[in-house]
Amino acid sequence: MQTFTIGGDLEVTRLGFGAMRVTGEGIWGEPADPAEARRVLRRVPELGVNFIDTADSDGPFVSEDLLAETLHPYRGITIATKGGLVRTGPGEWSPVGDPEYLRQCVLMSMRRLRVERIDLWQLHRIDPKLPREEQFGVIGEMQKEGLIRHVGLSEVDIDDIDAAAPYFKVATVQNRFNLIDRGSEDVLDYCERMGIGFIPWFPLAAGDLSAGDSPIGALAKKKNVTAGQLALAWLLKRSPVMLPIPGTGSVKHLEENVAAAELQLDDVEFEKLNDLGRVIR
Ligand SMILES: NC(=O)c1ccc[n+]([C@@H]2O[C@H](COP(=O)([O-])OP(=O)(O)OC[C@H]3O[C@@H](n4cnc5c(N)ncnc54)[C@H](OP(=O)(O)O)[C@@H]3O)[C@@H](O)[C@H]2O)c1
Repeated sequence: MQTFTIGGDLEVTRLGFGAMRVTGEGIWGEPADPAEARRVLRRVPELGVNFIDTADSDGPFVSEDLLAETLHPYRGITIATKGGLVRTGPGEWSPVGDPEYLRQCVLMSMRRLRVERIDLWQLHRIDPKLPREEQFGVIGEMQKEGLIRHVGLSEVDIDDIDAAAPYFKVATVQNRFNLIDRGSEDVLDYCERMGIGFIPWFPLAAGDLSAGDSPIGALAKKKNVTAGQLALAWLLKRSPVMLPIPGTGSVKHLEENVAAAELQLDDVEFEKLNDLGRVIR
C-alpha cells in the first residue's frame, strides 16, 4: 500500500481508517454491536492499514477506549486523535478552545489511549469565541513539552494554516471532502504545495457514495468494483497528500474499502469521475 510521511518522519498508509463509527447512534455511547466493532478494529492492521483517526468526542471517549482495548500497544499503528469539540448529546457538538481545556483534552486522550505522547493530535475545531492564536499557543507549548508529536488542524482555511505557522508546523489538515463535495479544493491544493497531509473526512459522503443507488453506480458496475471503492480510488489519485479515512462499523465494509487502495484508475476514468462528481454536486 502507498504511504505518506506525516511531518517528515511519521510514515503511514495513505488509506487509513476512521474510528468514529464504532460508537452509538448520533456518535453517542456504545456501538449497537460491540463485538463487531471490536472485530473491525482488530481487522484494520491485519489488512495492512496502519493509520487510524479518532477523536475524544467520538462517543465521547468510546472510540478511544475501544482502540486502546483492542490495539494497544499499537505496534507500528499511528493513532491520530482530536480534541476541542465537545459532544453534549446524540448528534450535538460544539467547539471549546479554552487553552486549559485543550490541555485537558490532550492529557485525557493520552490516558485513554495509554500513550506517553500523541503521534498526531488535531484541533477538531478552532473555537470562534476565542482568538485562534490563544488556542494555537497552548498546542505549540504541548508539542514543545513532548505531549504531542505532530499537530493537525480540522475544518480550516488557508489563512488559519498560515496563522498557526508561528506556533507549530501544521502536519495535517482534516476537512470535509469527497468526489461530490469539493468545497476545500483550494485548501487541498495548498496542502499539496506545502507537503501537508490532507485527511478528507466524509470520504464516502457518509455512505451516499457507496450506497446501492450511488450516483457513480453505473461506472462502478462497468469496472466491476463497488461505487464506494471507485470514490476512494478517485480520492487517492486526486493528490499524493490525500489520506482518506473511510469509517465503518462493519468488517465486510472495511474489507471492501481497504481493497480500494489497490484499485488503479487510468487518466480517462479519473477525469470522467472528476466531471461527474462536479455535476452531481
Ligand atoms: N474532522 C471532523 O470534523 C470529522 C467529522 C466527521 C468525521 N470525521 C472522521 O472521518 C471519518 C469518516 O467519516 P464518516 O464516517 O462520517 O463518513 P464516511 O467514511 O464518508 O462514511 C461512513 C458511512 O458510510 C457507511 N459505509 C462505509 N463503508 C461502506 C461500504 N463499503 N458500503 C456501504 N456503506 C459503507 C458507514 O456505514 P456502516 O457502518 O454500516 O458501514 C457509515 O455510515 C470518521 O471516522 C472520523 O474519523 C472527522
